[in-house]
Amino acid sequence: MQKVCIIGASGKLGKYMVQHALDKGYEVVGVCREQSVEKLDPFIDQMTIVPGRTNDRSIVEKAVSGCDGVLTVLVPWGTDNYSSGTAQAVLDFAEPHARLIFSCGWHISRDGKDVYSWKIKFLVNIAGWIAKKVGYVDLDDQVEACDRIFASDTKWTVVRGSDLEEGESQGLPVWSEHVGDPILESNLTRRIDFALFMVEALENDELIQKAPAIVGCQTPSALAHQ
Ligand SMILES: NC(=O)c1ccc[n+]([C@@H]2O[C@H](COP(=O)([O-])OP(=O)(O)OC[C@H]3O[C@@H](n4cnc5c(N)ncnc54)[C@H](OP(=O)(O)O)[C@@H]3O)[C@@H](O)[C@H]2O)c1
Repeated sequence: MQKVCIIGASGKLGKYMVQHALDKGYEVVGVCREQSVEKLDPFIDQMTIVPGRTNDRSIVEKAVSGCDGVLTVLVPWGTDNYSSGTAQAVLDFAEPHARLIFSCGWHISRDGKDVYSWKIKFLVNIAGWIAKKVGYVDLDDQVEACDRIFASDTKWTVVRGSDLEEGESQGLPVWSEHVGDPILESNLTRRIDFALFMVEALENDELIQKAPAIVGCQTPSALAHQ
């Protein structure tokens, strides 16, 4: 792993991933919207920035060229298939040998065996429905994006994040195959550690074609069940 691309580098998760990737000595290329380039000012001398929307296929093709790993922040903004467009472009243009790591939330299920709390069901079904109606976010498109990834024969990992909080790193989150597993009960991860898990996954072959659901390693449920 020498050169990595971060798609959605200027967001909160993206900037943490840039820092972790630089800390590991990787050469870093980042894609972010034109209006967000200045958010990457602290890293300007240490990375290459390719400005553009993350579902712009020509932008993604240029950015992932020659990269051994691609870290993609999958976000379901708007109503123009932003998530699935982003995922498809990465799947189509990443180098065949590249490790592909995608972020999403617990609401994504690979095999339908996840067990969800009423709170998650409410957020996805009711709040998600309203948000789609007003054109704000389209969770269905994030599901579509992940279905395409799951069907792909690339070296993908879909990292499913719990609720997030800010704060100093507590270390690498723990994970489980299914939401509802006791180790995940605390449903909280520091965003900086979500990013750490994404970056560490690049070199963890055990996670190839898996969709780990993560939780902070210092949360009560993680400590009780490790
Ligand atoms: N928030 C949570 O509680 C939570 C929980 C579990 C999992 N996750 C997952 O974590 C990942 C990061 O989410 P986050 O909430 O932490 O946010 P984030 O890291 O700040 O990422 C938001 C991303 O969306 C982009 N964006 C914002 N508005 C946009 C628009 N109108 N059109 C296109 N792109 C836009 C941002 O780019 P700019 O810098 O250009 O604005 C940024 O790259 C996602 O995959 C999410 O599914 C989040």
